[in-house]
Amino acid sequence: MIKIKPSKKLDSLPPYLFTKINHLKLEAYAKNLDVIDLSMGNPDMPTPHHVVDVMCDTVKNHTKTHRYPQAKGMPKYRKVITEWMGRRFGVELDYQTEVLSLVGSKEGIAHLCMSYLNPGDYVLVCDPAYPVHFNGVILAGGKIHSMPLLIENNFLPDFSKIPAAVARKAKIMFLNYPNNPTAACVEDNNFWKEAIKFCKKYNILLVSDNAYSEVTFGDYVAPSIFEFAGAKDVALEFHSFSKTFNMAGWRIGWVCGAKQLLYPLEKFKSFLDYGVPTFIQLGAVAALNGSQKCVREQAAIYERRMIKMVDGLNKIGWKTRQTKGTMYVWAALPENLKKEGSLSVAERLLQETGVVVSPGVGFGSCGEGYIRIALVTHDKRFHDALLRFKQFTKGK
Ligand SMILES: Cc1ncc(COP(=O)(O)O)c(C=O)c1O
Repeated sequence: MIKIKPSKKLDSLPPYLFTKINHLKLEAYAKNLDVIDLSMGNPDMPTPHHVVDVMCDTVKNHTKTHRYPQAKGMPKYRKVITEWMGRRFGVELDYQTEVLSLVGSKEGIAHLCMSYLNPGDYVLVCDPAYPVHFNGVILAGGKIHSMPLLIENNFLPDFSKIPAAVARKAKIMFLNYPNNPTAACVEDNNFWKEAIKFCKKYNILLVSDNAYSEVTFGDYVAPSIFEFAGAKDVALEFHSFSKTFNMAGWRIGWVCGAKQLLYPLEKFKSFLDYGVPTFIQLGAVAALNGSQKCVREQAAIYERRMIKMVDGLNKIGWKTRQTKGTMYVWAALPENLKKEGSLSVAERLLQETGVVVSPGVGFGSCGEGYIRIALVTHDKRFHDALLRFKQFTKGK
């Protein structure tokens, strides 16, 4: 066999902490063990029927859709996005120039880093964060300045702690609220105004990853960054169909913002991919144009699951909080498990009980001391999961 070294970029990535968990999970499935998989943010509920119907009809009856799609998104798809953004957030966008289709927002975020960063450029990234926020930077040769998300600050970054010398060198800041993995939501809009002011002052591209804008509870409504004055001058916003419409496997999302800020990503992608298959774009059109009742009903299901899990965990010593959104519970390890660390706890939990969760440290060093539980299984299974957590916690 020939021996060729992969690129240094690959070596520069941090160890993928979910590898062993994934391996153990597959082993457990192979042994037919009763696994309760709460590890990935992979929605268990189905894509709405009316969306699936449009996709099936398109594949069957509109044969020309087998041809290459329009990479930046069909005009119809982009137009419907801007109309939805108008109805949902009251923001105005030009569908011709201010929206770009993505093969899921993960793809867009990684390629945004590549289209903006030169080796050594700084990026302000929350810790913990959705991994592509830091891995995208590393793959593009950038340098990360971490903004710790601490419980005492409601898991929001403190902009005043960013040294001016770093801010002057920074090119991008990533924010993501409602947040993965901490489930925190921004309840005081001054936070967004401050972020815009900070990025304007230091000439930084503010990236709002709004993947969970529709997974919110009760009266809480997550805003778009573009609802705030001056945002268009500094910000891009990423949206995803994965959680809102249970379309994670269909791979479709979008990014929007001013033409000048979108342009590098559009150019980069035009050399790289042909965009999202047409039938999926048309399914997404149906999702945005259809009734949003299914979205609210689904959010209520996540809320119910969160309440059950948060109550149950708090009773057995895993401190956690009910939040206003997302599909995650961010739970602190009980005192007797703290020393062991989140990775070992998650591995043992899987091996001893069949419950699979994500170790907090996989989202950054500030995630140590926590595990993330994705609320992605049938309601009835949470009762079983809690019983297993209880046994596990007592056993140590
Ligand atoms: C914060 C955040 N952004 C983006 C994504 C990726 O979404 P997509 O499926 O659109 O790539 C996820 C998925 O879990 C996420 O949690």
